[in-house]
Amino acid sequence: MKNIKSAVNAGNESLKTRLEGMGGSFSYDETAYHLPVTFALTGNAVNTADEAQKAFAAAGQNPLVAAECLVAQQAAATGKEPAPYTGFIPDAVLRTLGYSLVDGSILGLMLVAGTPPNPDTAAGLCRELQEKYMLTFLSGDIIRSLGSAGVKVGAEYRLVPLGSRPLSAIHFIDILARVAMMFGGVTPGDAGRLLAYAKERAKAVVIVFPGLDDEEIAVIDSFRLLGIPVLAAGDYQGDEWTRVQPGDAVRTGMELRGIKVTVTAIPIPMACSPAFEGKSIRKEEMFVEFGGGRSPAFELLRVRPAAEVEDGRVRVIGPEIDGISEGSAVPLGIIIEVAGTQMKKEYEPVLERRIHNFVNYGEGSWHVAQRDLIWIRLSREAVAKGVKIRDLGTLLAAKFRMDFPDLLDAVQVTLVTDEATVRAKREKAEAVYRERDDRIRGMRDTDVDLFYSCTLCQTFAPNHVCIITPERPALCGAISWLDGKIAYEIAPSGANQPVEKGKIIDMDRGEFEGVNRFVKKASHGEIDRCSLYSIMEYPMTCCGCFECIAVMLPEVNGFMVVNREYKGETPSGMSFSTLAGTIGGGAQTPGFAGISKGYILSDRFLQAEGGIERLVWMPAILKEELKERLLAVLKAKQRASLFDKIGDETTAETIEDLATFLAAADHPALAMKPLF
Ligand code: SF4
Ligand code: NI
Repeated sequence: MKNIKSAVNAGNESLKTRLEGMGGSFSYDETAYHLPVTFALTGNAVNTADEAQKAFAAAGQNPLVAAECLVAQQAAATGKEPAPYTGFIPDAVLRTLGYSLVDGSILGLMLVAGTPPNPDTAAGLCRELQEKYMLTFLSGDIIRSLGSAGVKVGAEYRLVPLGSRPLSAIHFIDILARVAMMFGGVTPGDAGRLLAYAKERAKAVVIVFPGLDDEEIAVIDSFRLLGIPVLAAGDYQGDEWTRVQPGDAVRTGMELRGIKVTVTAIPIPMACSPAFEGKSIRKEEMFVEFGGGRSPAFELLRVRPAAEVEDGRVRVIGPEIDGISEGSAVPLGIIIEVAGTQMKKEYEPVLERRIHNFVNYGEGSWHVAQRDLIWIRLSREAVAKGVKIRDLGTLLAAKFRMDFPDLLDAVQVTLVTDEATVRAKREKAEAVYRERDDRIRGMRDTDVDLFYSCTLCQTFAPNHVCIITPERPALCGAISWLDGKIAYEIAPSGANQPVEKGKIIDMDRGEFEGVNRFVKKASHGEIDRCSLYSIMEYPMTCCGCFECIAVMLPEVNGFMVVNREYKGETPSGMSFSTLAGTIGGGAQTPGFAGISKGYILSDRFLQAEGGIERLVWMPAILKEELKERLLAVLKAKQRASLFDKIGDETTAETIEDLATFLAAADHPALAMKPLF
């Protein structure tokens, strides 16, 4: 049993002595805030032992300053601790975490330190924190404990392992200090503002298990100056800290900071939280997959009269998980029917797009793409725990009700795994997708002053932003300009925001001052310029959801487009999946762009590079799918003959074949201005 008061006194002494005996120089790379706690409190940029002592004195011998300097010096002397420990977290990573704090997908910050009595206690506590939308930092033995309970840690799981010793808890405060300086307008050296910010705005709590030494107790105790309550789960004596049972710690901590969770547990044998959204399920880890070109699949959300929707009803038509052999690809149709007095037909595509997020919330379920291109996996681990196909329906019904309480009164989900039924219903769904795409046809970018953004995919590609215009649907093909507008109406602080066009910088490339400004901010400073109609100069970034990829082919002075469904090779020498692997993740890659099928039909398609006449190759299935609509577009331009001049795998498999084919066909791209 440790007495807190005497441990704090001894700890402060020991920190001071160690600081005085310290030498050398040290600093953190990857931050603009020096040693952030020290910088925020004193305004001093510390790089040497000498400066550390001055800052310590200036901060009134604050143990946080001593601990920060000692930990930084240690890291400089011996290097960072090996994975999974993060040590000091770079600004770039922090910015993306900070973003989730403001958008509501994280409700508060928790630090858990020390040695829990057993791995199960640690696992239970962290599971609860994930389910309650907290971002959790771990320091000390708890990390090893979680490892032995099989709990995965890392920022993508919202369990951030700071370091093997509890003193690494100082990084929790350096994060708070930087959030205050980055987002909270706190100026370095204004200790009063920092304390006020931490008290009022940062919803932070600490839970300590036994096993802390005197220095660690002194440091964690001083967190209380920042208004952070310390909850002790055992073994500490004194009134300074609030005593709790491990099982009540999360609830008590959240109550103390006034954090309210409206999430209720969804009754399925799989944890479900945005905490799991960023993880993927690899082939070796999967039990079954649906769609992704391996089996027919689609998703569709429709509004129905109230009498036809029974809230919470979930049906599976076709084989369940027990009738499926491991490793197979199974057909799947997800049909969500909703009712609500406020719900409108125009909202359907916006809500339908959320299926992507919600399925990814499941710890053992994964989802990419959209409409009839979806690709879903269930992990072996989840199926072993009893997860069934029906549970996806339960999850979706519950999440739609929770996230759209004002819009939806009832949600029912039908999951179809019977192949013939999936095929029949998919055809009907495709008619609905077409109808939606038609609504926007005819609208021009020059008719509007506002475009819309989408940052839904930032959970996967943290700096990715889609800019959606009437003539350039989102790369996933699931969100049009109208949908963006409607989504903003439904959720004014959501992922779709209006983007003021602003002054035209280059009409040909589609570069606008307002768009650049927006993209710079939404990409956390990563992307300065974005052209909406060019693939060569400052093209839009790609996440991973694109329906198609447009690729420059310099040898033939043109562009090819390959769609997700096409599994073969292309004249670029790469298949869709190889190309997807090189351009995704939120990067800007000149010469390549993720695009939707609809964009190929737009007058703005490849505008800066010369338009549709630069298009030299597409897979035969994509040509067939677009045929009617593309011919109409080409006829309007008096270019109907171009259609047959576009190569495909039946006329040209390699770049050499393509050059021969295009020459024989007298394709206009060959006579256009060189791409370089
Ligand atoms: Fe939004 Fe773009 Fe992701 Fe589609 S691809 S959901 S538009 S961010
Ligand atoms: Ni995406």
